[in-house]
Amino acid sequence: MRKPIIAGNWKMYKTLEEATQFAEEVKGLAPDPEKMDAVICSPAPYLAQLVQVLDGYPVAVGAQNMHYEDEGAFTGEVSPVQLKDLSVQYVIIGHSERREYFNETDEAVNKKAKAALKYELTPIICVGETLEEREAGNTEKKVSTQVKAALEGLNDSQVKQSVIAYEPIWAIGTGKTATAEDANEVCGAIRKTVAELYSDETAQAVRIQYGGSVKPENIDELLSMEHIDGALVGGASLKSDSFAKLLEAGA
Ligand code: G3H
Repeated sequence: MRKPIIAGNWKMYKTLEEATQFAEEVKGLAPDPEKMDAVICSPAPYLAQLVQVLDGYPVAVGAQNMHYEDEGAFTGEVSPVQLKDLSVQYVIIGHSERREYFNETDEAVNKKAKAALKYELTPIICVGETLEEREAGNTEKKVSTQVKAALEGLNDSQVKQSVIAYEPIWAIGTGKTATAEDANEVCGAIRKTVAELYSDETAQAVRIQYGGSVKPENIDELLSMEHIDGALVGGASLKSDSFAKLLEAGA
């Protein structure tokens, strides 16, 4: 039985005051951590503040990106050591916006996943196809190629600790959600890829989220699907009442 995981990805939104207010509003609302995991992935400047406000509450804090090196002359970057130092627990790796606007490659995604796991940060590894790839019938090929590349060199236990987020690029921020059946089919294909690379046991253990225009109105149906273990949510995670409803659905 896989524990659902609902993660909000704030992207490059909110001020410090807004972030703090949000955390104050949701900290008491998160359901039983035995039943589900709740995560807020905030802009890097607010991570320390959120960890402090949410300390002792079952809402974890995640980063949206990191470098794979421990330290070094990499101006503007944040390292896994620094995230761990702040008690951050999760980090999004390979979001399609990073891949598209910041030239993040499959190889970098793999290095980041390894670095996250080395410091016991849970990587949320994002994969997904473009509209053109979907229309050409290449969705599963694209997604399985990304999964294989991201997991290269990880052992079974590291894969079981990781989260994979299936985010069709055409569904992100567009209001177009993949149907629950389509999303489930691709999440099932991801699980099959993991089974082929590792074992059925590992594939059954790894948690796979869907992301792309998830909102309170569609989350129940998505979470009812066999292979969808949670959601990575952008827009609908920005308001605390909407995020609270998503958490309720996951509980
Ligand atoms: O990381 C989250 C995804 O990019 C989804 O964003 O819920 O605004 O479509 P969205």
